[in-house]
Amino acid sequence: MHLYPLFRPLAFTLDAERAHRATIAALKWVPPHRAPDLPASLRTRVAGLDFPSPVGLAAGFDKDAEVPEQMLSLGFGFVEVGTVTPRPQAGNPKPRLFRLARDRAVINRMGFNNAGQPAAYQRLLQCRSDAGPIGVNVGANKDSADRIADYVSGVRAMSQVASYLTINISSPNTPGLRGLQDEGALDDLLAAVRDVKSNRPLFLKVAPDLAPGDPERIVKAAVDHGIDAIIVANTTVSRPALTSKLAVEAGGLSGAPLKPLALDALRQFRSASGGEMPLIGVGGIASADDAWERIRAGASLVQLYSAMVYEGPGIAVRIARGLAQHVKRAGFASIGESVGSEKP
Ligand SMILES: Cc1cc2nc3c(=O)[nH]c(=O)nc-3n(C[C@H](O)[C@H](O)[C@H](O)COP(=O)(O)O)c2cc1C
Repeated sequence: MHLYPLFRPLAFTLDAERAHRATIAALKWVPPHRAPDLPASLRTRVAGLDFPSPVGLAAGFDKDAEVPEQMLSLGFGFVEVGTVTPRPQAGNPKPRLFRLARDRAVINRMGFNNAGQPAAYQRLLQCRSDAGPIGVNVGANKDSADRIADYVSGVRAMSQVASYLTINISSPNTPGLRGLQDEGALDDLLAAVRDVKSNRPLFLKVAPDLAPGDPERIVKAAVDHGIDAIIVANTTVSRPALTSKLAVEAGGLSGAPLKPLALDALRQFRSASGGEMPLIGVGGIASADDAWERIRAGASLVQLYSAMVYEGPGIAVRIARGLAQHVKRAGFASIGESVGSEKP
């Protein structure tokens, strides 16, 4: 959107959450239209789904599935809505979203604020069936007595309107949620969600804050339970060197400072899976070079969110076109051929 350079200074006078709401409200006015033409070399097939471009919108921007078709028509190759929980919930007290402009970063402790799965379901039912791939990211309510049951009901409730479902166990803002990544708990969770007779691919979204052995253990559980892809990664609770005063805020950090961590985590998952498990790279991607690096490190698809806060939604098409040039220069016919092509 060429208007973003004009819109941004205005949005940045608002606090971050109001700016986000204003952005979603403005996007609702974008009439769904045909997505821009992208080079054919970007088309790719992952987990049985066809993607016009490997550059997707990460979860958390469109939590309630208000504008997925608009984001697809702006040139994202796929959109992940959510996280949605079975019941609506308010999330954490405000303020809970912070722009760290000097660091090109964001800190959030939203806490799965969302209008609940039934509301998202109704909106997704209205989407055109040929709009493009729309994934639904599901989570557990904060006060749930049985979190695994929340994921099961999410997969069951949303399958009919989702191209794929993401099991999000990596948000740092719901106390104890990341505990579902631990051995035992992860097996129980994945067995339970796989048991749902959903005909949609299931993706698992992991944290970038890993202990030694975590990637091997998580990949094994994912393979054992027939998970279709792993999304690496969510926000980090670590604090690499940051210059902004807001760096002290609690929550998950995303954007540029997450990039080296997310890339390293992706490489670990690639080596743990030996290329057998499709991976989706996310964290700090802001340019075609970043996306290309992630794809060569083993990502079949990439996603972004924070860079869009600073650069506007036109970033999806800019990255896609730059990626097509990388593919051509490297002598590959398609993006799929370049996945994992970096020398270890
Ligand atoms: C404000 C905000 C809200 C987010 N909410 C969610 C969420 O609800 N579910 C989820 O899986 N990830 C969520 N994320 C994480 C992003 O999907 C992504 O994994 C992370 O921000 C790293 O990518 P980025 O550096 O391109 O932003 C959120 C991120 C931000 C900045």
